[in-house]
Amino acid sequence: MIIGAGPAGLVLSHLLHLQGVESVVLEARDRTYVESRVRAGVLEHGTMELLRETGVGARMDAEGLAHGGTELRVDGRSHHVDFAELTGKSIVVYGQQEVVKDLIGRRLADSGDLRFEVGDVQIHDEDTDHPRVTYTHEGTAQSLAADWVVGADGFHGSSRAHVPGQVFDRQYPFAWLGILAHAAPSSAELIYAKHDRGFALHSMRSPVVTRNYLQVHPDADLADWSDERIWDELSTRLAGEDGFTLTRGAIFDKGITGMRSFVHEPMRHGRLLLAGDAAHIVPPTGAKGMNLAIADVRVLSHALGQWAATGSTEGLDAYSDTALARVWRTTHFSWWMTSMLHRFDGYDATSTPFDERVQLSQLRYTVSSRAAMTTLAENYVGLPFTTGW
Ligand code: FAD
Ligand code: DHB
Repeated sequence: MIIGAGPAGLVLSHLLHLQGVESVVLEARDRTYVESRVRAGVLEHGTMELLRETGVGARMDAEGLAHGGTELRVDGRSHHVDFAELTGKSIVVYGQQEVVKDLIGRRLADSGDLRFEVGDVQIHDEDTDHPRVTYTHEGTAQSLAADWVVGADGFHGSSRAHVPGQVFDRQYPFAWLGILAHAAPSSAELIYAKHDRGFALHSMRSPVVTRNYLQVHPDADLADWSDERIWDELSTRLAGEDGFTLTRGAIFDKGITGMRSFVHEPMRHGRLLLAGDAAHIVPPTGAKGMNLAIADVRVLSHALGQWAATGSTEGLDAYSDTALARVWRTTHFSWWMTSMLHRFDGYDATSTPFDERVQLSQLRYTVSSRAAMTTLAENYVGLPFTTGW
């Protein structure tokens, strides 16, 4: 039983099916909602390979934008991070909702059991060998027995509350205002810009759609951000000595996302296993959230496959520790990228001139040292897995 049809729940259901293990996926929202929710856009090398190797990468290969590097722009000066040269790997820019569409399409083509618009999902007896999930669907109360229950219901889901443990949490004193616009990308690669006025990110979704983000105050109100003000601010923060000009266009999606690091340990209680945002979230700088969710279920699918084939719980017993090792590596990287690239003065009352100098020194070192650039690059493209998918 998998609760949640986000990237974690859907990839898990697909990987289990490939091993001959069937699952039921319960999703609170309707299919259209899930397929159109705008979120992440960068797939790590390993995520890209996993989707390709498991037969759900065709549209990603046709429509995704392959990137061999990224640009760090510090007060207008550009520094290229060449992923391909430093790591031999690359990333692909392909929207999370497209990944979700491809997975739902494939699960349904494989006769997968996806139940949308379920209500009142409740987990029972997870600390016994016979867990059960009750929910409502199309107006009737339902109850399903499962061997294992996976809580892949995102950060606001209810599964995590069933897992006793410890929370590690960090709030950041800023948020991101993100837009999607009908405008050609203004750069071949993503641009992460550190500017006196705050962080900005230039990204894209296709040759005709751009995605951009601005650091804003956490209580910023979209009503105060007219389209013109957004474009003006992006143009200022992204400007460079190379004469970069930002192409503008009609904005068709606008939102503000808070920034937080959060890890719940452990990721299992009895026969309930947590995966993805249900157990952890990272701030978006570095584009790790969806990749980490998929990394969890890669490990989990092997563990459940081993149990189904042999009855051994060895993999399941190791799941939480194995997954948490990557979770903490990614938590550090996302915290580091966030700390290095945002403005704290004016956002964080405890920030001092000392902090600013140290931040600047870190940034200068990162863009001037091959070792530091390699650290950034290998984390950005995603650290390797020890097993195949
Ligand atoms: P989710 O995608 O959240 O999926 C959970 C699913 O469970 C949802 O479909 C939800 O409807 C369903 N659900 C919840 N409760 C229940 C319930 N009780 N019963 C049944 N179903 C339930 N990451 C990046 O890397 N880059 C970004 O730019 C970025 N932007 C983001 C913007 C926003 C607004 C948010 C919220 C996240 C963003 N992320 C980003 C993070 C990334 O999108 C997540 O890490 C990723 O979606 C995690 O996948 P998941 O499957 O674990 O959870
Ligand atoms: C995107 C989001 C990110 O958080 C990031 O670091 C890079 C790109 C995006 O949505 O395109």
